[in-house]
Amino acid sequence: MIKKCLFPVAGYGTRFLPATKAMPKEVLPILDKPLVQYGVEEAFAAGLTDIGFVTGRGKRAIEDHFDMSYELEHQIAGTGKERQLAGIRELIERCSFSYTRQIHMRGLGDAILKGRTVIGDEPFGVVLADDLCLGTDDGRGPGVLQQMVGLYRQFRCSIVAVEEVPAEEAHKYGVIAGEALSDTLIRVTDMVEKPPKGTAPSNLAIIGRYILTPDIFEILENTEPGKNGELQITDALLTQAGQGCVIAYKFAGRRFDCGSVEGFVEATNFFYQLKYGG
Ligand code: G1P
Repeated sequence: MIKKCLFPVAGYGTRFLPATKAMPKEVLPILDKPLVQYGVEEAFAAGLTDIGFVTGRGKRAIEDHFDMSYELEHQIAGTGKERQLAGIRELIERCSFSYTRQIHMRGLGDAILKGRTVIGDEPFGVVLADDLCLGTDDGRGPGVLQQMVGLYRQFRCSIVAVEEVPAEEAHKYGVIAGEALSDTLIRVTDMVEKPPKGTAPSNLAIIGRYILTPDIFEILENTEPGKNGELQITDALLTQAGQGCVIAYKFAGRRFDCGSVEGFVEATNFFYQLKYGG
């Protein structure tokens, strides 16, 4: 059983400046809900109730969001507004939240390695909250992480969610290649972090959902900095693929890149239509 889920949230969110100057990008809302809450809801729905954040300076709003606000709760007690807090209250009651800090911004691999203290020696999920995912168009089917937990039970190895992207977009992602096991599953044999234009090994880009086996920590410890001088999870996963198995999964559903203004607006419009549309 996978119970733990890691949220690396230390990044600066420079693509959203000046909005993210004093506010974490993860609390920017899609409609009335912070991005990070969508991610925690997805983890919770997949049965992952031990939530670990790898956080950093200026990110206190995330901790406060996943905590009681007694003054506010007292103020709105008995009014219709209480209903708006039902979702976050359920998460607070049913999940546990742990925090550790990434001191230096040394890449996603480094952030995940910092999470070792909250994860320990068990398989765990990783959610990059920038990627807002829906398992189905109406959001009612199993979420992407839940689909991946099912695969973990079958394969007992690391799983990465992938999506086909246009060739001209591949340089923004970790890109995989491998041997097709079915229409949706690939046994990974190659993986490159942000390949220069024209060099990607395929059009299958890794998106921000992972299930990792705990040997990844030891591998990360022994991985040299890669792209942009940062410790890359992609490089560690490639080592893992060489030693055992890493499965790439073309997930069912859709994903919005809320780390970009375009994706953020697209998600906002989509969720507005879902919630208030006819
Ligand atoms: C990170 C990973 C990359 C992955 C992407 C998904 O990159 O390094 O492999 O494709 O997340 O969102 P970032 O977007 O943090 O630069």
